[in-house]
Amino acid sequence: MSLRSLLFAPGDSDKKMAKASDSGADCVILDLEDSVAASRKPIAREMVREFLKAGTNPNVEFWVRCNPLDGPYVLHDIAAVAAAAPKGIILPKTNGAEDIVTVARFLDVLEAEHGLAAGSIGILPVATETAAAPFGLGSYNKHTPRLRGLTWGAEDLGAAVGASSNLEANGQWTSPFVLVRALCLFAAHAAGVQAVDTVMADFRDLAGLERVCNEARRDGFTGKIAIHPAQVPVINQAFSPSDAEVAHARAVLDLFAANPDAGTLQLDGKMIDKPHEVQAQRIIAMAERLKAR
Ligand code: COA
Ligand code: MG
Repeated sequence: MSLRSLLFAPGDSDKKMAKASDSGADCVILDLEDSVAASRKPIAREMVREFLKAGTNPNVEFWVRCNPLDGPYVLHDIAAVAAAAPKGIILPKTNGAEDIVTVARFLDVLEAEHGLAAGSIGILPVATETAAAPFGLGSYNKHTPRLRGLTWGAEDLGAAVGASSNLEANGQWTSPFVLVRALCLFAAHAAGVQAVDTVMADFRDLAGLERVCNEARRDGFTGKIAIHPAQVPVINQAFSPSDAEVAHARAVLDLFAANPDAGTLQLDGKMIDKPHEVQAQRIIAMAERLKAR
């Protein structure tokens, strides 16, 4: 499963849900949370369920973002959409693994009720949106088999702590957000799941998007969330290994295979050892995941 590009579409817009399905995104996130007004939540739940049932594009994984656990909507959201078998639930404003366990219990019941395979609906938390959330990031490596990835959010966290901005004048994240971005990255890898970078709100700045995608990929994120279809091709390109990267990774693995007793070797005049082999395996795994789509 590849969480490379994930495009949000408001759950009360049939037009955007349909357009998102044809955008080239690996995953479409049908949103019931912040992009849907309170008065529209009930209709949005029905629209998302019907949209999922229609199964518009078999090449796309459809996820649903429900409302947070501390509000009045979440049970209705999950109960409404589970029967239509979404790929997973994006759970906002989580504080740690306990929140995953709670939603997993709801899903256990609903999967049984609707005759779905046990454990088939995944969970991807937005794991940095409350002031307490950064302290729970280390807990996701506990036994939470539905966990598919971790992502982080800057807008709600900024509001939670009264930050007047989350960006420096040059467009870089301010230091509190640099910190949680890195913690999310490490927490995801500690839990053995994919790290997914947060949205870039300025959806017209595609050159800036390419830069932040390249930085995220360099740092170990495997994908990024989009809010506008124009962002999808940029994200797909940045998070796909290039032919040159795949060729280099194969050369590294071939060299280690040919020298099974060597701990360290040289390739094109550069020292390579265990971390390079691990990274090469990662690149090949990523390329194969994308090819399997
Ligand atoms: N999914 C599908 N289609 C989208 C889209 C999205 N996320 N965002 C824009 N589009 C469509 C528009 O409907 C429009 O379609 P049209 O040409 O057929 O009329 C086209 O893409 C161009 O859109 P544009 O005019 O550039 O933007 P907009 O002003 O219509 O929309 C937003 C801007 C921010 C409102 C819109 O991108 C959006 O709704 N994004 C998702 C928001 C969301 O879900 N947020 C929650 C997570 S943070
Ligand atoms: Mg939000």
